[in-house]
Amino acid sequence: PSAPLVDGFARQITYLRLSVTDRCNLRCTYCMPEMMQFLPKKDVLSLEELERLANAFIARGITKIRLTGGEPLVRRDMVTLVERLGQRLGDGLEELTLTTNGTELARYAKAIAAAGVRRVNVSLDTLDRELFARLTRRDALEGVLEGIAAAKDAGLRIKLNTVALKDTNEAEIPRLVEWAHMHGHEVTLIEVMPLGEVDGDRIDHYLPLDVVRRDLEQRWTLVPTTHRTGGPARYVDVVETGGRLGFITPLTNNFCAGCNRMRVTTTGKLYPCLGGGEEVDLRAALRSDDADVALDEAMDRALRIKPERHDFRIERAGQEPAQPRHMSTTGG
Ligand code: GTP
Ligand code: 5AD
Ligand code: SF4
Repeated sequence: PSAPLVDGFARQITYLRLSVTDRCNLRCTYCMPEMMQFLPKKDVLSLEELERLANAFIARGITKIRLTGGEPLVRRDMVTLVERLGQRLGDGLEELTLTTNGTELARYAKAIAAAGVRRVNVSLDTLDRELFARLTRRDALEGVLEGIAAAKDAGLRIKLNTVALKDTNEAEIPRLVEWAHMHGHEVTLIEVMPLGEVDGDRIDHYLPLDVVRRDLEQRWTLVPTTHRTGGPARYVDVVETGGRLGFITPLTNNFCAGCNRMRVTTTGKLYPCLGGGEEVDLRAALRSDDADVALDEAMDRALRIKPERHDFRIERAGQEPAQPRHMSTTGG
């Protein structure tokens, strides 16, 4: 068997985030500008290449693959990819999942559930149609809610991802959590990160989650749990609603010591850290004569350069973006 993926800080990488497209049918204001420049389609990895990559990572001990974007479900051959990767479940792969904006879930929930996906993370920052339209620059809330309902009907577990934004959805967070828990969904709140240029000042809306948490504690009893999903969130149980709530705190509470992740862009760049640093070109490795060896070497190189932690710091927030790549390019 091949060597496990262990980095220079003795962290074992078992979680691969695979971005299958950088395109998206929404334009969340904190994520990208309205006139987002997408990568040329010719540079995007084919389905076969994505599958081959995934298998190479599974051979090195990756047990969890999350397909991301952009919006993964706008890629045409996505269901086929999910089906093919789904065949590795129980054969090295333990979890296959997606992070989606939910707009295409009504269409695909059944198929991805049938392929072995058990839960999905759905981005949802507000339940207010007007605010949703302002935040995402698309009037698409209804379709997202239908998508979430369809996913539930298909038997998928759902976790909502909510970026906490000052003066935007801040006042609505308790209602959103209540709504989610009432429907049996989990919620994870996320601090906005300075990734890529956007129109306007993202940092004006930065909301530290310790503030949100204190506010929620006025209202509810939050009981910390040891529950983990293998991602960066730390969870509490909300006694009054009976639901689970996560916090992703890149700025206020660094979680990099336990990092188990790497991410690959849709053009095959392997980024050891979301926060920046060097990349490794997997596409060149994939397309070289001895691809298996080249891929292993590329992965080993990524392990050597994986930084100890990301460097998002709030005192630098005025000089954003700290990191020129958008979330939609690296897939988060
Ligand atoms: P679970 O499997 O449910 O734990 O998913 P996840 O939280 O790992 O994935 P998801 O795609 O839902 O990501 C939620 C948020 O966490 C996104 O904003 C990601 O960018 C962020 N995130 C995930 N991994 C990292 C990381 O290594 N560093 C930082 N700073 N943020 C991350
Ligand atoms: N900071 C924090 N979260 C972001 N997302 C997109 N851009 C950013 C950012 N700059 C969120 C999306 C989605 C998740 C994958 O990342 O809302 O839920
Ligand atoms: Fe699209 Fe997600 Fe970015 Fe919103 S946050 S524009 S849904 S990729």
